[in-house]
This record gives sequence, C-alpha cells and structure tokens, in this order.
Amino acid sequence: MKLKACIKSIASYLPEKTLTNKDFESFLDTSDEWILKRTGIKQRYIASETENTSDLAYKAAIKAIQRAKIQTNDIDLIIVATLSPDYFTMPSTAVVVANKLGLKGVSAFDISAACSGFIYMLELARSMVESGAKKNVLIIGAEKISSVLDYTDRTTCVLFGDGAGACVVSASEGKGIIDIHTGSDGEFKDLLCTKRSNQTKQLEPIKLEMKGNEVFKVAVKTLSDDVSYLLDKNKLKTSDIDLFIPHQANLRIISYVQEKLGLSDEQCVVCVDKFGNTSAASIPIAINEAYEQGRLTNGKLMLLDAFGGGFTWGSALTYFDGIDYKNL
Ligand code: ACO
Repeated sequence: MKLKACIKSIASYLPEKTLTNKDFESFLDTSDEWILKRTGIKQRYIASETENTSDLAYKAAIKAIQRAKIQTNDIDLIIVATLSPDYFTMPSTAVVVANKLGLKGVSAFDISAACSGFIYMLELARSMVESGAKKNVLIIGAEKISSVLDYTDRTTCVLFGDGAGACVVSASEGKGIIDIHTGSDGEFKDLLCTKRSNQTKQLEPIKLEMKGNEVFKVAVKTLSDDVSYLLDKNKLKTSDIDLFIPHQANLRIISYVQEKLGLSDEQCVVCVDKFGNTSAASIPIAINEAYEQGRLTNGKLMLLDAFGGGFTWGSALTYFDGIDYKNL
C-alpha cells in the first residue's frame, strides 16, 4: 500500500518578553500608528540574551512530539528552517536541537529558504515519509531573528519577532498532505538579504536588509498566483478550504491575497498582530494558534502559503491528521 504522509501534530514556543510598538517609540523615529497602519503588527516576542534559536526550537519540538503521541526516540529525521542559526555555517541548528532532545545518531540538517522554510520542509518531510526512507520527521521553523536585526533601522526592525513552531510528519491512515508547490527566483536576491560583501576572511556583523516596498509588490502577485495554481491543479475551489494560513509578514499582504481569492474572514488565520513576522516560524506558529483556539481540528483542510528572501515561495494543501486540542 502506498504510504501517506500526514501532519500528526503542531506546537509553538514564544519567548517571554514582548516588545510593543509603543516600546519602539522610546529609541526609534517611529510610531505605534505607523507600524499598525502599514503592517497590522501590535507587538512581537523577543528572545533573551541567553536564549538561542535552538532553545526556542527545542521547546516547540518537545510539545510537538508529545502531541503526536510518540516517543522522542521515534523521530528519525529533524529538519530546521532558520535564517538565524545558532552557528554561522556549522553545526546545523537541527543537530543542536537533536542533542538537546537526547537523540544520538538521528539524521538532522537545516534548510535555508527564509520565510518559505516551513513549506519547503513540509515538502521534504512528505517525500521522506512517502518514499519509506523515514517514519517520523520533526520539522521546526525557528528564529531568533532579533539577532540579525539592526535596531537603528526603522524600516526592518519593527517588522520581525522571535519564536518557533514545530510539527511531526508521519506515515499514517489519515487523509494526509495533498500537494505542495515551491519555487524561487534569485534575480531578487538583494531585495531581502543578510549581505556578506564578498567572501573575505573578516566576518562583518550580520544584518537583515530589505527593500520593503519592492518586496511587497512581488509578494502579493506571486502569492496569489501560486495559491491559484495549486488549487486549480488539484481541482479545488477556495470554498473547499477550511483554513487559509498564510505567512504572517504584513496584514496588507494577507488581506490582498484573501480578497483576490475570495476567502472569508472565518477561513483566514491572522496573528501577525501578536507575533510580527517570525520568518520560518511564522506558518507553524499560525497553525498552532488556530489549533489552540479550536479552529483546527482533525480532518480540516488547510491551505498554506509563504513568501520570503531569495525570493522563495510555496503553497501547500494538507489535511490535519492530529489529535484535537481539547482531547490532548
Ligand atoms: N516608522 C515610521 N516611518 C517609517 C518606518 C517606520 N518604522 N519605516 C519606514 N518608514 C517611512 C519610510 O522611510 C518612508 O518615508 P519617506 O516617504 O519619507 O521616504 C515611508 O515610511 C514609506 O516607506 P515605504 O517603504 O514605502 O512603506 P510601505 O508602505 O511599503 O511599508 C513595509 C513598508 C511595511 C516594509 C512594507 O513594504 C512590507 O510589508 N513589505 C513586505 C515585507 C515582506 O513581505 N517581506 C517578505 C517576507 S520577510 C522574509 O523573507 C525574511
């Protein structure tokens, strides 16, 4: 029988400290009004000095494993998507998380796809499970994005927040993942990036740079086109979707795509106001929000979409095959 990859659980972890729009007013030429009007963001979470991306990832992972009703030892692959890894190029954050989980000998690696990381990981996890190569894949989007931000640059630092979201993908009898589409276009590599002038020996401080306005224009078109492509390919209509869970970068981008596709407010999951843009963690955190609010229950059909640095993008159509939150 053909193996079917299913999303068995979802969980998230946010650091304790919040940074509100008002907090920025004390050290930056900005205002609560500007940030809220242009982005829909009210606050974001910021990790402490001693917390690393792997710590956030680990805490989300523990919950995701418990919610999938499996043992930590059942995990045979860990993938982490992040643009703010613990180490510069090695070891991967996934390896650090594996060590924190007490897993020796498990396959573990990171991927780099910026804010689209979760969709890319889901595609990888699905292939691994459906090919029979792995049984239980732990995928984690995790960011201490505050560590790559310049807090004197008002055009970027107000947009992002720290956090992690994790998910277990396993072979099971559920309805499973229907389809995933990912893409990229390196022509836009310098519009949203953490630059390294040239590969000289001296490393400069890493700093996220973004030409927000230009990113915005490409993002809205690419996202709506990609989602429409995936729905058409699978002969589905927007009315078939229970929950539309987009990357939480900017409320204006989400609203544009929602309107273009004719999705109702009841179908859309929006939490950018609470978390800001948490890059690779944004989609699993948003899925978890819907889950803990009781909106995402077993058998619900989700449409996920993401867009990020690269540019990279991706959409996924998937059922949720985990245990309902109230039954945990
Ligand atoms: N407070 C006050 N004013 C500001 C701020 C701020 N925090 N930031 C910028 N401004 C000013 C600018 O300096 C500019 O002033 P000027 O007209 O005097 O030059 C003015 O506001 C307008 O700036 P724009 O960049 O045109 O503002 P825009 O409406 O485009 O909003 C934003 C900026 C929020 C960044 C928006 O473009 C956006 O959300 N872009 C997309 C972000 C995104 O989707 N990223 C992809 C994923 S992230 C990832 O992959 C890591």
